[in-house]
Amino acid sequence: MAHLLITGGAGFIGSHTCLVLLQGGHSLVVLDNFANSSPESLRRVGELANLPTAGRIGVIEGDIRNPADLDRAFTATGHVDGVIHFAGLKAVGESVQQPLRYWDVNVNGSRLLIEAMQRHDCRTLVFSSTSTVYGEPQTFPISEAFTTNPLHPYAQTKLAVEWMLQALEASEPGWCISRLRYFNPVGAHPSGRIGEDPLGIPNNLFPFITQVASRQRPLLRIFGADWPTPDGTGVRDYLHVMDLAEAHALAIAWLLQHQRSLPVLNLGTGRGLSVLEVLQAFEACTGLAIPREFVARRDGDVAKLEGCAERAAEILGWRANRSLEQMCSDGWAWQSANPRGYGC
Ligand code: WQD
Repeated sequence: MAHLLITGGAGFIGSHTCLVLLQGGHSLVVLDNFANSSPESLRRVGELANLPTAGRIGVIEGDIRNPADLDRAFTATGHVDGVIHFAGLKAVGESVQQPLRYWDVNVNGSRLLIEAMQRHDCRTLVFSSTSTVYGEPQTFPISEAFTTNPLHPYAQTKLAVEWMLQALEASEPGWCISRLRYFNPVGAHPSGRIGEDPLGIPNNLFPFITQVASRQRPLLRIFGADWPTPDGTGVRDYLHVMDLAEAHALAIAWLLQHQRSLPVLNLGTGRGLSVLEVLQAFEACTGLAIPREFVARRDGDVAKLEGCAERAAEILGWRANRSLEQMCSDGWAWQSANPRGYGC
């Protein structure tokens, strides 16, 4: 088994991935600045993994843009065999308002992480990228062969890091890199102990729905009813966060075993769902009514994103297996048991 550094490991996808990695026998060190996460998530991950109190998770509070914090993360708990890099900013609308902040954290932060990996003789990296690099394709499902067309700073910064990693591989032999392009991760671990805990008003559909369900918010505003889709609402490829976490564990294991890079991989279900379809499934699953109103489209939105993940199936043997009903029931189990997230 390996000793892995997980940047942003206290976050939504990071914490679920930490759990899967621990259950797979790895030991971890997490670097997180807790700007959009809580150390409580890691305490609960250790609990779920049945770790002794000391646990097998080293936690370093710090920022990927601080080389001294990075050096601590690479030295405090012994040699790091590989890195899974989640730390970054990921709100589409916010990236339009704050482009320089996104370039600093997502691109400069990734560059500084890579330089720290070089300093500490670690060249195995899984990078958290995004399906929004595809922009607004006109045919579906989207495969990795599609041209990229990043429409906002969030996607542009993620693609810039992908390019940086390609140039690094060409310039310096020995790097083993995986770039994972996520579609829309939702839901929570079925225990209800860890889940998505957005700061402030949720940007994303799923946590907004669960907060309406728990009566923290009066209603869901649906951004546009005139999209060129069957029911006029936006279509996305939603996948369970546990499926996504398992994909990361498979990717890092593949890199460590094969000692070479993976091609870019899409991580989705291949099945797009509209906002109304998600709402219908959530209400059917929970028995709760979700008040809603139609409002204008949101800047940066596209009509549809739906991904083909056949390459991940062929290479990693990975498929998103969990159903929409499981996404809804697990997401609600988390929200209803933790109405204030990790604020307890
Ligand atoms: C989904 C649909 C909205 C909120 C996200 C992340 C981004 C990336 C891709 C990983 C759209 C509609 C939403 C609301 C709504 N993830 N909606 N009312 O925009 O696809 O982007 O996934 O890389 O980081 O932001 O997801 O959940 O914001 O929107 O009607 O209050 O729900 O218009 O059609 P999106 P989302």
